[in-house]
Amino acid sequence: MEGIDLSLLKSLSRPELFEFEGISMVQYFTDNWENIQNFKARPDDILIATYPKAGTTWVSYMLELLYFGNTEPERQTSMPIYIRVPFLESLFPGMPSGVELADNLPTTPRLIKTHLPVQLVPKSFWEQNCKVVYVARNAKDNAVSYFHFERMNMGQPDPGDWNTFLQRFMEGKKVFGPWYDHVCGYWEKKQTYSNLHYMFFEDMVEDTGREVGHLCSFLGLSTAIEERERITKSTHFDAMKQNKMTNYSTVPILDFTISPFMRKGKVGDWKNHFTVAQNEQFDEHYKQKMKNTTLQFRTEI
Ligand code: A3P
Repeated sequence: MEGIDLSLLKSLSRPELFEFEGISMVQYFTDNWENIQNFKARPDDILIATYPKAGTTWVSYMLELLYFGNTEPERQTSMPIYIRVPFLESLFPGMPSGVELADNLPTTPRLIKTHLPVQLVPKSFWEQNCKVVYVARNAKDNAVSYFHFERMNMGQPDPGDWNTFLQRFMEGKKVFGPWYDHVCGYWEKKQTYSNLHYMFFEDMVEDTGREVGHLCSFLGLSTAIEERERITKSTHFDAMKQNKMTNYSTVPILDFTISPFMRKGKVGDWKNHFTVAQNEQFDEHYKQKMKNTTLQFRTEI
């Protein structure tokens, strides 16, 4: 891949967390800030927005296959998902910035990923009335997944032990800010911005085919049922875990000996991590944080 030297990532050291535009951030997502904020979205761009570890890669691959699975099959076998669906705010050594990758995407539509909270999304996406696909995941499983991701990802701050991580998660001191504000922010946006499709990780696990169908309706795609079934199969956890183009095994800052990127893909794994005391504390805090929203999550299915 032209202009990309992933080996440079090996020299990366774990970044410090700092306050930036009202949330916790690390330099890899703020160094290119001006270009990010000035990004020129096109009306047919599709923005995939998530809090980290909510199912971003999963929905990205669904969209890739829906749009380009038939017309450009070689993209699926030769380009990792993080090149096909650029991570807008990213700037890592050895890689073009997310903005550059997005600017140079040859496809229509362009699929673009962001973890930015709704208030920091470049305004051109709203001005151009772009379609936005948001995936949310229940806080407990999201936290567990994020913990393991920080353990294995040298591009993230050190998570400490599980209890330390959980306290920081509840305080909102994680890269991209508080989970609570993130999921509620896009939920509120959806009330006034009709081009936003709000999905849940739990629904995707429960019935992937149904969720692919809902995506097609939102996107105005008349994808044949057989094709949708093929996509449902190709985006199954086991298939994506085996697939080098979707399992992130090509990224050297991720240490798979600590934890794989495609870790479990389940609803309810939090039960294997939360102690009874942690769960009670979390529930109490959650009630407070979420008391003003109609947004509801399932922590088991
Ligand atoms: P776990 O750590 O709980 O396994 P993101 O892509 O936003 O970083 O999210 C990663 C999480 O989504 C991981 O969760 C990963 O296993 C899960 N995931 C990715 N693809 C999946 C799929 N096809 N089915 C179920 N879960 C999937």
